[in-house]
Amino acid sequence: MSEKTISRREFLKIAGMGLAATAFACSGLGYAATRQPQLELPELNFGKEHIMTKILVTYSTRAGSTAEIAAAIGQTLSQRGYNVDVLPVKKQPNPADYQAVILGSPIRMGSWLPEVVGFVKENRALLEQIPVAAFTVHMLNGGDDEQSRTSRQAYLNAVHEWIQPAEEVFFLGKMELAKLSFLDRFISNAMKAKDEDLRDWNAIHAFAESVFAQVETQ
Ligand SMILES: Cc1cc2nc3c(=O)[nH]c(=O)nc-3n(C[C@H](O)[C@H](O)[C@H](O)COP(=O)(O)O)c2cc1C
Repeated sequence: MSEKTISRREFLKIAGMGLAATAFACSGLGYAATRQPQLELPELNFGKEHIMTKILVTYSTRAGSTAEIAAAIGQTLSQRGYNVDVLPVKKQPNPADYQAVILGSPIRMGSWLPEVVGFVKENRALLEQIPVAAFTVHMLNGGDDEQSRTSRQAYLNAVHEWIQPAEEVFFLGKMELAKLSFLDRFISNAMKAKDEDLRDWNAIHAFAESVFAQVETQ
């Protein structure tokens, strides 16, 4: 997905066309267009039972790349001595069971996935009481210029309605067309997106090595 050739505005326009097409489709066709290929959502525990300091890494994904990042973060955190659960938000983990929470979402159409925003909204009272960090996985607006930074920041607008994570980090993600629904592939093809994996595992591990420096292990 090259940001040099297509702007986010054009992206959203194409996406709008795709969504309108689906809205016109009859319900059966609409379902087929948005059905995702089967995807395993990892549920992992890293760390020893006797370790009292528990950290939750909770995420959602459409094509799997965010789940892999969540798992890598969980593994690195456990090497720092924490007991870490990595769980999809759909499993409805309870933040009250943890001393800190990391939230992760890919960007679709300029925003976090609705189920992660829904998790934030439902659990905002608990999330306000513990350290929270957020990681965002995206393909556009990856530059160091002011415009890219502002556009990236806007990806979290729906989250900021409910909470202000103490730490926020952005990771470039991955496009894998074969793992997308028909509609998402249609949008991606219209954008001339191609398969590519831009994930920087050093940056991902570096984040996991430094986040929550203030949360002591017990
Ligand atoms: C239909 C579609 C829409 C996307 N919209 C955006 C977007 O608005 N901004 C962006 O930076 N990346 C966008 N992306 C890129 C994804 O955020 C990126 O591919 C991410 O790694 C996907 O995560 P996942 O594999 O966990 O689903 C989009 C990807 C697809 C397929």
